[in-house]
Amino acid sequence: MSQYLSGHVRLGDDLTSVVILDQTLLPNEVKYLTLRAPEEMVEAIQSLRVRGAPAIGICAGYCLAALAQQRKGLPPDRFRAELHRLSARLNASRPTAVNLSWALGRLGRRAHAMGDAAPAAVAAALREEAIAIHQEDVAMCRAISEHGLTLLRDGDGVLTHCNAGPLATSQYGTALGPLLLGTERGMRFRVFADETRPLLQGARLTAYELHQAGVDVTLICDNMASIVMKNGWVDACFVGCDRVAANGDAANKIGTSGVAILAKHYGIPFYVLGPTSTIDLDCPTGDDIQIELRDPEEIKSKFYARPMAPAGVKCYNPAFDVTDHTLISGIVTERGICRPPYGQSLAALIPPLDNSPAR
Ligand code: MRU
Repeated sequence: MSQYLSGHVRLGDDLTSVVILDQTLLPNEVKYLTLRAPEEMVEAIQSLRVRGAPAIGICAGYCLAALAQQRKGLPPDRFRAELHRLSARLNASRPTAVNLSWALGRLGRRAHAMGDAAPAAVAAALREEAIAIHQEDVAMCRAISEHGLTLLRDGDGVLTHCNAGPLATSQYGTALGPLLLGTERGMRFRVFADETRPLLQGARLTAYELHQAGVDVTLICDNMASIVMKNGWVDACFVGCDRVAANGDAANKIGTSGVAILAKHYGIPFYVLGPTSTIDLDCPTGDDIQIELRDPEEIKSKFYARPMAPAGVKCYNPAFDVTDHTLISGIVTERGICRPPYGQSLAALIPPLDNSPAR
């Protein structure tokens, strides 16, 4: 057992590697991978072997710390140049979730503050910072779960999209946190999990996590959200987020904004849950959030024995969309629940300079 935090993302016992649970294989296979080379780390993040905004941040922190430890014998100038290069490489792996640059920015500032310290000392400090990010995420998820639970009553029906559970974070999760915490306390919920095309995080991961935890979960295709709402089965929608702009516009998995539009139509409250590290006050509105575009084959052939579309057909495959702040009933963070107007409530939550990502 490692002396460091265990779980589905952790630093290897040799301190020069990162161990992750390969989420692409779930729910069929539980397999851990050891990442050592920068290209393995970038590939793991880009292929969604590790995914979910907070988990990507935790992983990137451990990756940079492990790479620094590998290079601690370099002359100081070369060591610092390498750190800079590797941080930029990790940062470029996925563009939308701000937690990635937030975590790398934290490590970068820690190294910078050490001035001319020896590479071995800097590597040790980066390890400490990465572990702190992980430990803080455990506490943040717990606090988000407590705040989110105040929005639910025993017996409620909740619809969720994508996966914002323990696999996407460290423990409890964000959107799934209140459901898991409430269940631990003897409450009962009926959860509707959108399968979340094209990569099926809802079917493969959310249904898996909730089912394992003994939560009453019903899997639906994304285009069934309207009928379950119309049937009166949904009391609230809980979703995670990858980046929240200063005005409250929130980027999350593609399809989230459609759920919010439906919820408004049926008069159902729509909540976004995420740590303050996902709030980017440097990003004025959702229009300023870069949306990741992914390989069309994810739509056409992934998960199918044979292609399900003509080989040459055009495909548009954005991985995220932005939910307009006017559709959001509340943004639940570890520091409390923000309500409109978000320009004021989000700014009041975050002290200046607390959250400046690496740019
Ligand atoms: O592409 P993914 O699987 O990384 O997308 C994940 C999501 O959209 C989650 O809802 C979000 O990161 C919040 S995780 C607590």
